[in-house]
Amino acid sequence: MSFLQWVQESFPPPPTWQPEDAPDLTEKVVLVTGGNAGIGREVTKALLKKNAKVYIATRSANRAQETIEALAEETGNKAEFLQLDLSDLAKVRESAQAFSKLESHIDILYLNAGIMFPPIDALTKQGYDLTFGTSVIGHHLFLRLLYPLLVAAPTPGPARVVWTSSFLHHQVPGGRINYSTFTDGPERRRMGLYALYGEAKLAQIMLSVYLANRAKERGEGVVSIALHPGNISTEIFRDKQTWYMRLWHWVFEYPTPYGAITPLYAGTAPEAVEHKYLRPWARPGSPSRVALEVKEQEKLWSWLEDQVKEYL
Ligand SMILES: NC(=O)c1ccc[n+]([C@@H]2O[C@H](COP(=O)([O-])OP(=O)(O)OC[C@H]3O[C@@H](n4cnc5c(N)ncnc54)[C@H](OP(=O)(O)O)[C@@H]3O)[C@@H](O)[C@H]2O)c1
Repeated sequence: MSFLQWVQESFPPPPTWQPEDAPDLTEKVVLVTGGNAGIGREVTKALLKKNAKVYIATRSANRAQETIEALAEETGNKAEFLQLDLSDLAKVRESAQAFSKLESHIDILYLNAGIMFPPIDALTKQGYDLTFGTSVIGHHLFLRLLYPLLVAAPTPGPARVVWTSSFLHHQVPGGRINYSTFTDGPERRRMGLYALYGEAKLAQIMLSVYLANRAKERGEGVVSIALHPGNISTEIFRDKQTWYMRLWHWVFEYPTPYGAITPLYAGTAPEAVEHKYLRPWARPGSPSRVALEVKEQEKLWSWLEDQVKEYL
């Protein structure tokens, strides 16, 4: 990605679509991973305003409860909580099983939770890089386990899967994912936190496009859309108050409510089902060339299948 593209992506033209433009969502069942903070909280709020039944899926019941109470005051509607820790595959399975007992279908699944630049020593319970393990492996398993509920969504559909990726998916050395960086070792440490984040975001787009194409071929009535939500002021940098993060915040970040625009459009606008990748604010775009390579997508999907098979 050139410097010019980087600047263009960071300062998009003003939005022409707003969350208020979303249709009424009465009787729609929606699950938002990471729905208690930042972008996920804004998405949840906009969905509640449109009368959807929304589940916030995160680790902390207390934090989620505070958000649920606050959003009930702001919107007049109450979200539900689902315990989910994406960094532990056994817990991901427990969470999907618990959800399957509560609902018989899902209309919109937001795979939104994520972390950025954790300490380099941080790994998931099963020993994967924490960023990749949370955003990609955990979400892959969660999606696989909940997939029958998406297929079961009543018509008119289609059911939608929305992945919060990032334009930083362009910032991967060589543009391709490197399988030796998913677990700890010299290559992962050499790659560094910035590229590891970009790699996880690239993998999310690859999975989204793979799923969209496969669901279409099989006629399953499910679409999948990946997006860059914009540079949004959230809690994602909460532990990293360095001078350059403060500068980034000041120069590049948009107010948190902007974070709902592109995900809401992806999940609810009738015309959004035509797109595989969106950029801010709710505009169609193209991800990197590698993200669209079918062979690379298949390789990643089957690598992930291998990692999660004992939890399926
Ligand atoms: N902010 C931006 O400028 C920006 C730009 C591009 C892409 N994104 C992407 O947008 C998504 C949301 O980020 P944000 O900026 O809104 O960050 P945030 O305010 O830090 O919110 C992250 C959410 O993820 C949840 N989460 C983290 N680890 C989890 C785990 N192991 N299991 C379940 N939930 C977990 C957190 O909940 P708990 O900690 O309570 O579990 C929280 O709700 C991320 O995927 C991020 O990569 C953000």
